Amino acid sequence: MADFPQLRLRRLRRTEAIRSLVRENHVNVNNLVYPLFIVEGKGIKEEIKSMPDIFRYSLDRLSPEIEEITKLKIPAVLLFGISQKKDETASEAYNPEGVVQQAIRFIKDIASQLIVITDVCLCEYISHGHCGVVDGNRIDNDSTLPLLAKTAVSHTEAGADIVAPSDMMDGRVQAIRQKLDENGFQDTVIMSYSAKYASAFYGPFRDAAESAPHFGDRRSYQMDPPNLREAMLEIEQDIAEGADMVMVKPALAYLDVIRQARNSFNYPLAAYNVSGEYSMVKAAAQKGWLDEKQAVMETMTAIKRAGADIIISYYAKQVARWLRSD
Ligand code: PBG
Repeated sequence: MADFPQLRLRRLRRTEAIRSLVRENHVNVNNLVYPLFIVEGKGIKEEIKSMPDIFRYSLDRLSPEIEEITKLKIPAVLLFGISQKKDETASEAYNPEGVVQQAIRFIKDIASQLIVITDVCLCEYISHGHCGVVDGNRIDNDSTLPLLAKTAVSHTEAGADIVAPSDMMDGRVQAIRQKLDENGFQDTVIMSYSAKYASAFYGPFRDAAESAPHFGDRRSYQMDPPNLREAMLEIEQDIAEGADMVMVKPALAYLDVIRQARNSFNYPLAAYNVSGEYSMVKAAAQKGWLDEKQAVMETMTAIKRAGADIIISYYAKQVARWLRSD
């Protein structure tokens, strides 16, 4: 390698044209997924207090949002349903007339090319807000699995392209793959929230989805934040059980996990830039404390640089707009 003064690394930073010629990582609209919150009822478009510019929609108010997403060429949405009908077995999660099932049909009707991904979890539909069935104070793994599988099948019957289990029960991918196949849905893709950590950054989401647990926390099923090797085991297990894509969540405090996953597995890798990561930047931007566009594009690029293929973000629409105007 040459040495200074022959070597001057600043030469390639002199103009934007040169910088862009040698740029190593790019954010592309084709890899973005936009999350959507759907509520029961009519005439509802309400902003989520802790997530400015993000709304909860009832179906009759959803179509302008879908039009905007398709106009921006965002290829996929990730659906979350919020139901007032909560019970011990989360029956609304797999009700063919449930809020998400209706939303899937509606979206596929008006935008058939838009990829519909659904979050498969019980927490928005279960009385106590945990992601699995409760036995005393324990979240029971094995009795949760058939309910998750039923939910995934009902989403697929409604037209979902990709199901994304986010509950962190052991064996859920296998249970879901098996039930999908039994029902003739061999082509339904499973995007598993494989390495999902018990994170403080989900705070605003639980506001949005009314899914905060009524007792205890999620640490007996979501991962312990200090662990990296264990994340690789989770991913390995999900792939062995039939996951087509894997995910690391959250993104920003876990870029090392994304990098390690990219180095270790040849499967498509998604990163979830979660609600708290959105709200943090949004709040600082609203206060004028940082430049929103620069901060967001820098973090999106960082997620790419770490090795993610797909980025799920509440900033997806804004990023798509910024990419167009550049
Ligand atoms: C449901 C689920 C959560 C998120 C996605 N799916 C919440 C949780 O596990 O508590 C978080 C998404 C976000 O914060 O943006 N289990």
